[in-house]
Amino acid sequence: MPNLLTKLAYQTLQKGRGALSLAHKEMNIRLLKTMAPDVVVKTLPLEPEVIKALQKSMDALLEQDWQDGVDGVYPVELLFRAPWKDWALRYPLLWLDAPAVWDRLRRRDFQDLPKAINRQHYPAYYLRNFHNQTDGYLSNHSAALYDLQVEILFNGGADAMRRRLLRPLKEALTKQQAGQLQRLRILDLATGTGRTLQQLRSALPQAQLVGCDLSEAYLRQAGRWLAEQPAEVPQLLQANVEDVPFVNGWFDGITCVFLLHELPRSARVNCINEACRLLRPGGVLAILDSIQPKDSPEFSALSENFRRIYHEPFYGNYIHDNIEAHIEAAGLVLITAETHFVSRLWLAQRPV
Ligand SMILES: C[S@@+](CC[C@H](N)C(=O)[O-])C[C@H]1O[C@@H](n2cnc3c(N)ncnc32)[C@H](O)[C@@H]1O
Repeated sequence: MPNLLTKLAYQTLQKGRGALSLAHKEMNIRLLKTMAPDVVVKTLPLEPEVIKALQKSMDALLEQDWQDGVDGVYPVELLFRAPWKDWALRYPLLWLDAPAVWDRLRRRDFQDLPKAINRQHYPAYYLRNFHNQTDGYLSNHSAALYDLQVEILFNGGADAMRRRLLRPLKEALTKQQAGQLQRLRILDLATGTGRTLQQLRSALPQAQLVGCDLSEAYLRQAGRWLAEQPAEVPQLLQANVEDVPFVNGWFDGITCVFLLHELPRSARVNCINEACRLLRPGGVLAILDSIQPKDSPEFSALSENFRRIYHEPFYGNYIHDNIEAHIEAAGLVLITAETHFVSRLWLAQRPV
């Protein structure tokens, strides 16, 4: 039974994650100003009330995360789980990588990818250094550092945001199955290093899980981490979210986390249409991605700074895109749309 002490431990852990992330960002900007002042980007100042609102929404996110654990949506133990040892060992690599990032920024070369890759295997929009990452998504080095970068970007709140889709997804699926959650088939689109699959495995231990992504290296990392859990390892396959090799209606549930903002509009639409095709009637789609100014105008400066600092060529279009309209045009019915910290969650269902 989770108790006050466990809650305190969770809050302390999250405070620690947040403090370390902020310290890293501060050191990074100081180093950048000293070592590579020519690539420093002018950002919008964050007013004190914005910072206050951010802190408030982070607190609400963590409270919700705790509550869902207490309510049994997933085990409380999940709140403490992360590849801590790997992250600690890999952290110095972030600093060692910094000069390569500055050099790329200086050259304004955002298609600086490993020579050995076969470019024909990937859509053109994918072949770039998203978030200024060395090798884009196309190397083991990038896969090793990705989660740490996301962890820092979201001040330690990335997994707590990913977990927000678990309760509504579980509830929507349980409702149809008279309380039974048996051999559900769930697909995680653009699974990356498998963080959402980790959360799904804990929340739905009986489900048959599949993850797809275009990056072989990220799937390899996902496989390694998922195999450490004493549970069935999800099936991982290399595929484009616009064209996933499964028959119509195969899945009960589909998740898609932090992907849509990295797709051009046409691929975004294709991805949502493909999810609809893959869902059985009554199946549920959960999309989690960045907030948009129409729902979170108070954080507009934050979105703008993200766009300026990182190489995210489709983010500007994403934040003004009408995701609800794409969901409905695909033939799905929107069940709910919610904001959690800096993420927006859309839950939709394929009509029966
Ligand atoms: C920002 S990461 C998100 C990863 C993961 N969902 C998470 O929560 O961390 C974007 C991921 O989408 C993958 N990706 C981008 N475009 C894709 C596409 N068209 N098809 C499949 N995967 C894609 C990338 O390889 C990368 O792993």
